[in-house]
Amino acid sequence: MHFNNDLPFVLAITGASGSIYGLRTLQFLLDAGVKVDLVISDGAMQVMKEEMQLDLKDDLQNKLITYLNEGAAPRDWSFSIHNILNYGAPIASGSYRTQGMAIIPCSVGTLGALANGLTNNLIHRAAACCLKERRKLVVVVREMPFGHIQLKNMLALSEAGAIVACASPGFYHQPQTISDQIDFVVGRLLDQFGFDHQLFQRWKEDKRAMMKWGSKSSL
Ligand SMILES: Cc1cc2nc3c(=O)[nH]c(=O)nc-3n(C[C@H](O)[C@H](O)[C@H](O)COP(=O)(O)O)c2cc1C
Repeated sequence: MHFNNDLPFVLAITGASGSIYGLRTLQFLLDAGVKVDLVISDGAMQVMKEEMQLDLKDDLQNKLITYLNEGAAPRDWSFSIHNILNYGAPIASGSYRTQGMAIIPCSVGTLGALANGLTNNLIHRAAACCLKERRKLVVVVREMPFGHIQLKNMLALSEAGAIVACASPGFYHQPQTISDQIDFVVGRLLDQFGFDHQLFQRWKEDKRAMMKWGSKSSL
């Protein structure tokens, strides 16, 4: 599949634990100048409140911008945010072209809906559009352990063309902080879409480069 970075990217955050993964992804995409169509489920808002003491209710866009500006030089963040039940949003139609969609984190509830073709909210509908248009859809599921139904749903969604990932950070990049772990998961998601990033140290990448230069200099 050819990615056109001028096309918008659909980002959905659902109510699995780890809303921070979704917000970090949003931050990366906006920093990279990607046009983002964002949808946040009610479940995600509840989790953000519990996990991050971030209450986005009532003034979602402005509160999100305040969050994004925290600890950074204030700037104009530009993105489209859609109400979870707005089936009139552009992303509810397959004819609205996008470079794909990521759901991070993805709850097992949303996973189940997608695997069974339900379109009870805009996230489900936008994902269904991605699948039918054969655009890239990556879901980063978070649950532990997985039940039989969830495992079957993951298989069904993968067979339908989605990439099913888990929010399972590795340790081979020698993480020192929780941010390192978040960036690992977000970075591996971004890899699926071909975004260039330096969010984590790739396995042996430096060592290979060093060997290459080492052998050159020893000639
Ligand atoms: C603090 C908190 C943590 C949660 N963690 C998870 C989780 O890791 N995985 C999951 O599938 N659901 C989790 N849930 C439950 C979902 O939020 C709930 O099932 C919700 O209906 C999912 O709907 P959504 O997919 O539309 O966001 C959590 C809920 C809360 C309040």
